[in-house]
Amino acid sequence: MADEASKRAAGRMAADMVEDGAAIGLGTGSTVRFAIERLAERVADGLSFVGIPTSHQTAMRARRLGIPLASLNDAPRLALTIDGADQVDPALRLIKGRGAALTREKIVAAASDRLVIVVDEPKLVGCLSSPVPVEVLPYACAFVERRLAALGGTGTVREGARKDGPVVTDSGGFVLDWSFGPIADPSGLESAVEAIPGVVASGLFAGFSEKMVVIVGNGSGCRVVRPGSTPPRSAW
Ligand code: A5P
Repeated sequence: MADEASKRAAGRMAADMVEDGAAIGLGTGSTVRFAIERLAERVADGLSFVGIPTSHQTAMRARRLGIPLASLNDAPRLALTIDGADQVDPALRLIKGRGAALTREKIVAAASDRLVIVVDEPKLVGCLSSPVPVEVLPYACAFVERRLAALGGTGTVREGARKDGPVVTDSGGFVLDWSFGPIADPSGLESAVEAIPGVVASGLFAGFSEKMVVIVGNGSGCRVVRPGSTPPRSAW
């Protein structure tokens, strides 16, 4: 599939940015998977690094491929994190969390000197608008729903695909997928959502642009977008 090839190209390019001896955050999802596979090849060729996984999925994949892992408590400062995204806007603000790993992904992003985001072209949007995943403490779920409704939009508790009832995240939370429509002020909305008691984290990542590199896979390879180098909104 062309889509898979784009993700693969982006993931592999990100893995080639990892330097010997580093502690690296490993995000979650179908694009990061290709970075993990390339990192495993590099480990077999002699690369030495330690990965800090953001989910059971990533930990299991990495372990199976022989990548050394540690916890964030072992390595609280990371040289770089490789992660995916659901949407990226021209100011390099993100929506993340389709895989419900948003909280650990946000912590690891904050702990990293550099953040390498791997996506394919359809993830690039002029304005963030997809539903925003919000991880909540189960205790506070209904209360948070009321507060989110007061901010605008609508949403639901994410249900398991092959499990009855709500998705329970790797950290024990529920996920509310909240549609705000086009988001004019991602940073302001992120702050407002995360100020609600009971919210653990939102899938809006508006504060990491300065240390971010976005690798965009496409049919002919990859292009790399850095802060300040984004094309005009119309060409994005
Ligand atoms: C995990 O919770 C997510 O944040 C993913 O990183 C994001 O949804 C991108 O996933 P894909 O690379 O599978 O599209």
